[in-house]
Amino acid sequence: MALWGGRFESGASSMFKQVNDSLPFDQVMASQDIQGSISWSRALQKAGVLTADEQAQLEGALSELKAQLEGALSELKAQADAGELDFNASSEEDIHSFVEAALIEKLGDIGRKLHTGRSRNDQVATDFRLWVREHIASLRADVLGVIKSLLNAASRHQEAIIPGYTHLQRAQPIHFAHWCLAYVEMLKRDLSRLDDLKVRMNQCPLGSGALAGTTFPVDRHAIAEELGFDSPCLNSLDAVSDRDFVLELLFVASTSMMHLSRLAEDMIFYNSGEAGFLQLGDSVTSGSSLMPQKKNPDALELMRGKCGRVFGSLQALLVTMKGLPLAYNKDMQEDKEGAIDTVNQWHICLCIASEVLDSLQLNEERCREAAAQGFSNATELADYLVGKGVPFRTGHDIAGRVVLQAIDKGCAIEDLPLSDLQAISDKIEDDVYPVLQLEYGVNQRNILGGTSKETVTKALYQELENLDKQG
Ligand code: ARG
Repeated sequence: MALWGGRFESGASSMFKQVNDSLPFDQVMASQDIQGSISWSRALQKAGVLTADEQAQLEGALSELKAQLEGALSELKAQADAGELDFNASSEEDIHSFVEAALIEKLGDIGRKLHTGRSRNDQVATDFRLWVREHIASLRADVLGVIKSLLNAASRHQEAIIPGYTHLQRAQPIHFAHWCLAYVEMLKRDLSRLDDLKVRMNQCPLGSGALAGTTFPVDRHAIAEELGFDSPCLNSLDAVSDRDFVLELLFVASTSMMHLSRLAEDMIFYNSGEAGFLQLGDSVTSGSSLMPQKKNPDALELMRGKCGRVFGSLQALLVTMKGLPLAYNKDMQEDKEGAIDTVNQWHICLCIASEVLDSLQLNEERCREAAAQGFSNATELADYLVGKGVPFRTGHDIAGRVVLQAIDKGCAIEDLPLSDLQAISDKIEDDVYPVLQLEYGVNQRNILGGTSKETVTKALYQELENLDKQG
């Protein structure tokens, strides 16, 4: 049953239905649609449009439908026959018409009263906000899960030192926990972006009608409050046209996926035969059909690879929205598939990131060895010379020449005899050797945000405490 059949003489073509119908994907908003409709029926009653009895019948039928639809949705997920409420067998255009048709089926004319003063334009804007808001809460928990796994990995390996890189060249040694905490900072920002998004999007479009508001005196504040919004949207044109909240969700997801992708990339490299810093659990890796020795980091590669579709969805919706005149246009129905897919993929990637981190085993010996190689204590030598009154630039130059000498002799800086060092600079004395030890350089960076044991331990405990509070 089309909701708008009156002025049409013939039905929609099957090809038109393919391009036009959104029920195949907007069925995920079934419970939000019903929740919004219950509030709308209460508002209509208070406005004198429905009697108390009519409202009670509508609310009863909607609640019944909600239970049935939720059953159907979970059965559909399990690929089972969903019986009467099979969305796939329905010829309804979208979830809003589907719910309304089911209501009319149950209640007859009373069901036909619910849409008074309402449009699918303010309805879809409300439903989708409710849907996004619910997912903000679950995604928040997923992000916290990754933070927890990073903190656990850091706690298991508090002494471990790995090479720190710039340009993928060994630069300066760092604590492994410092590396974990770097990703904790990124994910904390992702969390706060989710929180910001919720603050901005939590306004209720219902009562905006198709575009110009409604003639029925519904209490928009009461509707907003009942649906958990902070306030009603303040302009009806904007309320039905705004999809910023979807764009923001896609941006927050994209940024977070970018973080997960860098985390994945670091771990893929650390896991490589060349680095050999860590092993991944069997549960998150796969083998090769041809090469029996292979154990591939597929979970991490997919965390990196799935960025493509998530970034694509952000770009797609930006392009869809950019030329649209006010107010609603059907182009905007394209807001959903990318967002639904993004939420699914981001959720999966956050969960798998936790599993990978929980499974990883650090090869501390190998990390230490690599951290000590590559002349990563050259900065220490330059800083040492600064302590001896040498200007930093000159110290930098001397340390560079020492590195050349070490390369020449095929040894580490600390393995060069004092005579070789003094031939380059007479400022270098015997007390240079402790300075060249791995831990020395690391623990010298005892400044807020630095990699010393003391600062890292403090930061780790602070974050564990923060996590507890998020609880
Ligand atoms: N299925 C539509 C969407 O997702 C609902 C709104 C339809 N409104 C309309 N006037 N055709 O955007």
